[in-house]
Amino acid sequence: MFKQQNDIFLLSTKNTSLVLRKNEQGTISSEYYGPRIPNIEGCFGLAMPHTNPTGNSAVKEENGFVSLDSVNAIYSTYGIGDYFYPSIVLNNDKTNIFDFAFKGLEVGKPHKNPLFPTPQDANEEVVITCFDSATSTTLKLHYFIYEESDVIANYAEIRNDSDDILHIKRCASLQLSLVNRDFELISTYGSWANEGNIEITPIKYGRFIVESTSGSSSAKHNPFIYIRQKNHAIDDGLAYGFNLVYSGNHEESVEMDPFQNIRIQTGISSLGLDKTIGHKESFVTPIAVMSFSKDGQVGLSHNFSKFVNESVIRKEFQYKDRPIIYNNWEATGPSFTKEKLFLLMEKAKDLGIETFVLDDGWFGNRNDDSHGLGDWFVNEDKLPGGLKSLSDKANELGLSFGIWMEPEMVNDDAVVYKEHPDWIINDGLHKTIKGRNQYTLDLRKQEVQDFAFESVANTLKSANINYLKWDYNRPMASFPDGVGNFVYDYMVGLYKVLDRVVTAFPNILFENCAGGGNRFDLGMLSFFPQSWMSDDTDIHVRANLQKAFLVGYPLSVFSNHVSAKTSNQLLRYSSLESKFDIASFGVLGYELDLNDLTPLDEEIIKKQISFYKEHRHMLQFGEHSLIQDLDVEHKLIQQVQNDSEVIVSYYSMLQLPNPRNDFLLAKGLDADATYVYENRQETLNIKKFGHLINNLSPVHIGEDSLAQAELASKQGMDGEVTKGKALGSVLMGLGVPLPDEWKMTGLNPGTRVMGDFAARLYVIKKE
Ligand code: GLA
Repeated sequence: MFKQQNDIFLLSTKNTSLVLRKNEQGTISSEYYGPRIPNIEGCFGLAMPHTNPTGNSAVKEENGFVSLDSVNAIYSTYGIGDYFYPSIVLNNDKTNIFDFAFKGLEVGKPHKNPLFPTPQDANEEVVITCFDSATSTTLKLHYFIYEESDVIANYAEIRNDSDDILHIKRCASLQLSLVNRDFELISTYGSWANEGNIEITPIKYGRFIVESTSGSSSAKHNPFIYIRQKNHAIDDGLAYGFNLVYSGNHEESVEMDPFQNIRIQTGISSLGLDKTIGHKESFVTPIAVMSFSKDGQVGLSHNFSKFVNESVIRKEFQYKDRPIIYNNWEATGPSFTKEKLFLLMEKAKDLGIETFVLDDGWFGNRNDDSHGLGDWFVNEDKLPGGLKSLSDKANELGLSFGIWMEPEMVNDDAVVYKEHPDWIINDGLHKTIKGRNQYTLDLRKQEVQDFAFESVANTLKSANINYLKWDYNRPMASFPDGVGNFVYDYMVGLYKVLDRVVTAFPNILFENCAGGGNRFDLGMLSFFPQSWMSDDTDIHVRANLQKAFLVGYPLSVFSNHVSAKTSNQLLRYSSLESKFDIASFGVLGYELDLNDLTPLDEEIIKKQISFYKEHRHMLQFGEHSLIQDLDVEHKLIQQVQNDSEVIVSYYSMLQLPNPRNDFLLAKGLDADATYVYENRQETLNIKKFGHLINNLSPVHIGEDSLAQAELASKQGMDGEVTKGKALGSVLMGLGVPLPDEWKMTGLNPGTRVMGDFAARLYVIKKE
């Protein structure tokens, strides 16, 4: 909803309002962003008083004594009295000073950003036009209102109406100014196989920046950041979240001046940016999004989850149940035979899996990662009968079939590279730098875009394929233009290809991947509805990822696979049961050698899959809330909820000796209603008890003996049963006590045997 009176503009969503104002200096400032203000009268008195001049400031005299440095600017340039780091830096041959004054405002139906993905179904678009008459340059700020999800999006457009060439050196998509209310900033850092670690930074005097310069949004720092009030519960206090609908280099900064005014900027990275536009030409930034909640990070997570599910995910996949996938990568790598794949398919079907995905290695001369990328024709020696024979087999069994591709890359033995050595990224002077033995194709070129599109289209048409995992496995280097210009143009090219692909194949389920989470962002999610979050399938790494990213992204985009008990990445051992408890929060898959499963493992997985199918819609699309972070007793507690039930995931990183009691906690219940709760029944591996198993066994079983292995392959021990009734107010308050953990005092049938890196699921329903 938009309302205006004189110089005040009110942009409201269901629960929030952003109040903008044409200020004394003729620019636009944000006077308020917080709980919803129902009418324009409610905005009077919100403007910063500015009754006293600040001593040492630079002001445009004709407009009184208020310096631009002290207004809550929603855009800023330098050289006109504003000493925050500018959101926009421009120059032409005559000047580098640009002074944009408010000129007009239009409200109407939303239009798409001309180059970058635009979240769908905005209620209104508000375009604020500002003009610098000295240089004939226009700045337009496009705001989109998403009422239901409490999100406001924004991008900037610059138009040059002079005859001079205009250089764009920096242009943030969004700038928001706020007064500090004891905020702290939460951002993420990470690397391959170790994405999504949380960094909490107190907001300090000065400027703090996170950015990516590697060509993709990157695992180094995700573009999603938020600020929240310190020393508040996770579901209490003011919180503001920001993200960028973009997959290339980005920059988010938070700056605080001596008066505790804060400016937050988010947009493309300005490193190596120098875009030039001539007479009557325009430049646009990608879209940034922001949301406010008075209910801390949990409130933000509800807003962003709704927003992404409804406005970012394509309609074809909106709230549509995702299949349970088997992927062969961790089991076979690129070395497999058709017979092996057939055996895996049969096992997968038997376990209840729905889609079989053949990963890397099916094409060209691809038996390791130094060959074959770019040769998108099937390796008939390895797979006689081609992809069709595989999809036929899968379909006969009642499975659907999926495939892996990496369309933006080539190895140097690829036919396409030999024919078109100029199609890869290179500056023309230096030897091209390889990454994972491969080169990146230059998607700025139309013929390269056509090649990528056709490679994918031909593959998809060659067999009955329902799913495609689109990978991107190296950072960029060897840029032929400034890195900023190059990556911007590459992204424009990439989005054109992705748009063509999803338009031609709207019902194929694409999974986004970049060596795991190296390009996990709202830009990619605008085309591909789910994402392979990490090449790390270790239970702890995955729990950590959920904690970091479920604030800004919904469960439906998290593709999680249960992998072998001993993790490929860390050699950490954790049970299939616990791995499932974490992997089931999101889109479930399996990625281990199914032929190595013991009869007991098979039984366990069948039960997991039937539990998942029963609760699938909620586990993929329900509302997620963090309940407790790992800092309390090393336990991460989170839940997912729909109208009729709640599932609580309870993850214990470290078993403590003789620990205090644990409690089952939940959120969002009806305080006066009675709920029944029950844990998902799990099977314990008898190996976990080592030699202590002899306390129960009639014959002696040595620890690590063959006899123990033999027994463990067939028989497990029933895990504890936790069942009961409780009032909503109790579950939301102090919680109900859970059975005692293992305390070395013996094993009773009710003992909760957890150990390190272990989890449980509890289902809570209204009686
Ligand atoms: C990347 C992906 C993996 C797998 C391999 C194949 O690392 O993240 O899941 O597909 O590529 O080469």
